Amino acid sequence: MNKGTFYISTPIYYPSDKLHIGHTYCTVAADVIARYKRMRGYDVMFLTGTDEHGMKIEERAKASGVTPKQFVDEIICGEGGILDLWKLMNISYDRFIRTTDDYHEESIQKIFRALYDKGDIYKGVYKGLYCTPCESFWTESQLVDGKCPDCGRDVKYAEEEAYFFRQSKYAQRIIESISSYLEPQSRVNEMMNNFLKPGLEDICVSRTTFKWGVPVDFDPGHVVYVWVDALSNYITALGYMNSKYDDFDKYWPCDIHLVGKEIVRLHSILWPAMLMALDVPLPKKVYGHGWLLFGGDKMSKSKGNVKDPGILAKRYGVDALRFFLLREYTFGADGNFTNELLISRINSDLANDLGNLVSRTVAMAEKYFGGKLPQEREGSLEDSEITAMAGDLSKAYETCMEKLAFQDALEAVFKVTSRANKYIDETTPWILAKETGKQPRLASVLYNLLEMIRICAIMLQPFMPDSCHRIFKQIGASGELTEFDSAASFGGLPETVTVEKGEIIFPRLDMAKELEELAGE
Ligand code: ME8
Repeated sequence: MNKGTFYISTPIYYPSDKLHIGHTYCTVAADVIARYKRMRGYDVMFLTGTDEHGMKIEERAKASGVTPKQFVDEIICGEGGILDLWKLMNISYDRFIRTTDDYHEESIQKIFRALYDKGDIYKGVYKGLYCTPCESFWTESQLVDGKCPDCGRDVKYAEEEAYFFRQSKYAQRIIESISSYLEPQSRVNEMMNNFLKPGLEDICVSRTTFKWGVPVDFDPGHVVYVWVDALSNYITALGYMNSKYDDFDKYWPCDIHLVGKEIVRLHSILWPAMLMALDVPLPKKVYGHGWLLFGGDKMSKSKGNVKDPGILAKRYGVDALRFFLLREYTFGADGNFTNELLISRINSDLANDLGNLVSRTVAMAEKYFGGKLPQEREGSLEDSEITAMAGDLSKAYETCMEKLAFQDALEAVFKVTSRANKYIDETTPWILAKETGKQPRLASVLYNLLEMIRICAIMLQPFMPDSCHRIFKQIGASGELTEFDSAASFGGLPETVTVEKGEIIFPRLDMAKELEELAGE
């Protein structure tokens, strides 16, 4: 059932500080897509990693009294670092690239030289306003009250030799193709109006003001611009111009580069221009997702909202947090993160709806039939609506997932769980249990509920892998009955299915108590 390959990437994050819930949002979304595609039979390559060079990291390391490499090693591999966070969040990446990996640095030097040899990188003079203490060039429009935007001191006109990439040469081709790879469509308009229509300039791709980068091998003293270094990770991680890996031909072009909206420009203009210059095909899709806002800001520090994904995942469960992030927010748009929304979503969907459905159904199967349904059945007209609804779910879900409309996909699933809870109220199994001769009807009702749960849990697997595994165990589903294709038809579970009561999967939270305790975190 192999359907071919599927390559998905996240941005490679800056290891300048601990990652927060915003980074987790993007990585969880990528993980959900990767798991969904694996479930559909694709050979998936899921890439993530870290973008480790640049002046900011060099400065932070200096301030901490360590070398840049020691600094990033601690943030990535140290206790509670990036690798630990992805392990905690159950991120199923296939490859993790660090831009300080030897093979990547070797490729970057080769890529830079190839572009230089082709004439698409040339030596010129960088002219601009320079802040000496910050060692940074600024444009007029970046200044704040005529001063350096970083330190507020005076700037002076300066010139410096630098290498430039002929981005302008590819402007027309990008204008012609951007709408074929960039999503959502609103981002295309943004790029056209703000950058492409006003005209693309060549871009400075080397620096001499700091050392922490990949040196230009034919002109030491210059290091490669961090974005040329970083964007190339998507191909060097597959072995492009290095011998560490050899699956570039297998996985490229990338199916989805998932990125936050603030780096859409670099991924939809600079990166495609670099690929055109290298004669490498363009990615099939660049998707710019929205931001999680904290009290209206992308990054406000206050507001009392816990943004440390580790704290939230340990407190509420990794799956609850994963689910919340994709259920609460429209993926392409911004959304406000609050602790209150998190707790209320866990209570409404997971504890009251799904969790309650599973525990009630399993408890009734145990109570009325000792855990194993009898063979005799009695169907009823009222069943046909719910069996059809559950049987149709996988198609609707697939349509949403293919569009990365996670929120809609989950909404479709939760329509079925709500309907199942209502079906319990309508069929009143506790009354059937008391009536003589109603055992076959009771068995049918419970079977229908178990099937609805099974089908919903299959759809929820990419979002909440561990919890779904526990649900399957409780409702007696395993092997093929947990696979996507088995969800297309109602009635997969054996007639005499055996359930196994387990712990409550999603306990209900006390909002006031939780908010108070989180405020102390
Ligand atoms: O930009 N809401 O790294 P970075 C949603 N190294 N997503 C958020 C977010 C928020 N509040 N904050 C961060 C870089 N993100 C470069 C990338 S790629 C070749 C180089 C997510 O550590 C979002 O996906 O600043 C965003 O694009 C990414 O983290 C930026 O991470």
